Amino acid sequence: MDRISLLPDELLLRILSLLPTTKDVVATMVLSQRWLPLWKLTPKLVYDDSYQNIEYGKFSRFVDRSLILHEAPVDTLHFKLVQNSSAADIGIWTAIAFKRCLRELNIEFSPSTNPVTLPRSLYTRCTTLVTLKLKSVTLVDVSSLPSFPTLKTLWLVAVKYPGDEFVKRLLSNCHVLQDLLVALFPSDNVTVFTVRVSSLKTLKLGRKSRKVKDGFVIDAPLLENFDIYDIMGGFCVIENDMPKIVKASFYVTYSQPGKIMSCITSVKCLTLCLSTSKEVYPVGTVFQNLVHLRVCTCETEWVNLLLSMLRGCPNLQSLKLFQCRKLPAPKPRPCLKGSTLVPGCLSSSLKALRWVDYEGREEEKQVADLILRTGSCLKKVTIFSKATDPNRET
Ligand SMILES: *[C@@H]1O[C@H](CO)[C@@H](O)[C@H](O)[C@H]1NC(C)=O
Ligand SMILES: *[C@@H]1O[C@H](CO)[C@@H](O)[C@H](O)[C@H]1NC(C)=O
Repeated sequence: MDRISLLPDELLLRILSLLPTTKDVVATMVLSQRWLPLWKLTPKLVYDDSYQNIEYGKFSRFVDRSLILHEAPVDTLHFKLVQNSSAADIGIWTAIAFKRCLRELNIEFSPSTNPVTLPRSLYTRCTTLVTLKLKSVTLVDVSSLPSFPTLKTLWLVAVKYPGDEFVKRLLSNCHVLQDLLVALFPSDNVTVFTVRVSSLKTLKLGRKSRKVKDGFVIDAPLLENFDIYDIMGGFCVIENDMPKIVKASFYVTYSQPGKIMSCITSVKCLTLCLSTSKEVYPVGTVFQNLVHLRVCTCETEWVNLLLSMLRGCPNLQSLKLFQCRKLPAPKPRPCLKGSTLVPGCLSSSLKALRWVDYEGREEEKQVADLILRTGSCLKKVTIFSKATDPNRET
């Protein structure tokens, strides 16, 4: 026997888990007698109908057979599909996997596939899942949605919904949900996306649509990590404070960002790309815990935004300035006013400045000058100019 074959099953299964799809895993059975039974014990099954240009009939036969012959509990079942004919088969395939203690289900269609509606039966089966990730699928309404008592992670990317009410019901049936990722696309059929989940710890929201009425309503009092990417207008209403927030990032064009900022005053790491510098947070608000701040220099108002943030963060230790997207034709940018009140953190706590994509514009020079002149605790300053920076980062 070769040396690899002498390794214990667990280690060989680890090696198999590194292969891209179940097709590769099953192919290892021809290696030797030692490998022959191993694929049936892998806890993760990944099926990709565009892999190696397989014809759909052959693909679906392969999935059928491998699911039936597989012997161990299926921890994770992952479909990456481009052909909408597979919608019909998904019900059966998942039914088999659910009998094998499925914990994580990931159904991912290609965005170019004709809309694929998931079978209704999936809702009742999903009640034992811990993780559910859906991409580019259509959900149908059912009169009584079951609850999902074990679901901790839910990702909904480019999903089409049966309306706003459905979204509310779906999420209110997830009583232990901790991690929610939602990316909305123009044809999502949702106007206001409501997230009221008291167990939620991580929430990532993104939206790519242009409807001004659109927005988010959030009530997640235990939230720790909060990201919003929403640069087409709209709104976000937060119904209750979120005193446990540690990390947040907002890339938004909301006209009143202060409404969100006033709910996250416990934040330690904050990234901001805001289109306005007015009323960034309510007067008197102090971000006592904020030690790492990142501010994007793309928006016209970034200097004022930076200064108002610095004034509200008495304990800031590190500041990073960066560009998050390609700048449109540069508009004139407001510079620092003659006698600027120097924010206290610059001389009392700021230890590190990292500036990526520095372009040497007038307002940038002024900010650099202000920080270097007054930063009496600064220990580390790194500035990369846009032209010479070899590893652009954001
Ligand atoms: C796949 O897409 C075509 C074209 O839109 C449609 O006619 C067909 O019903 C779809 N099939 C399934 C199973 O959804
Ligand atoms: C879109 O949502 C509305 C309710 O907001 C619902 O009545 C309608 O059926 C949904 N359309 C589709 C295609 O699901």
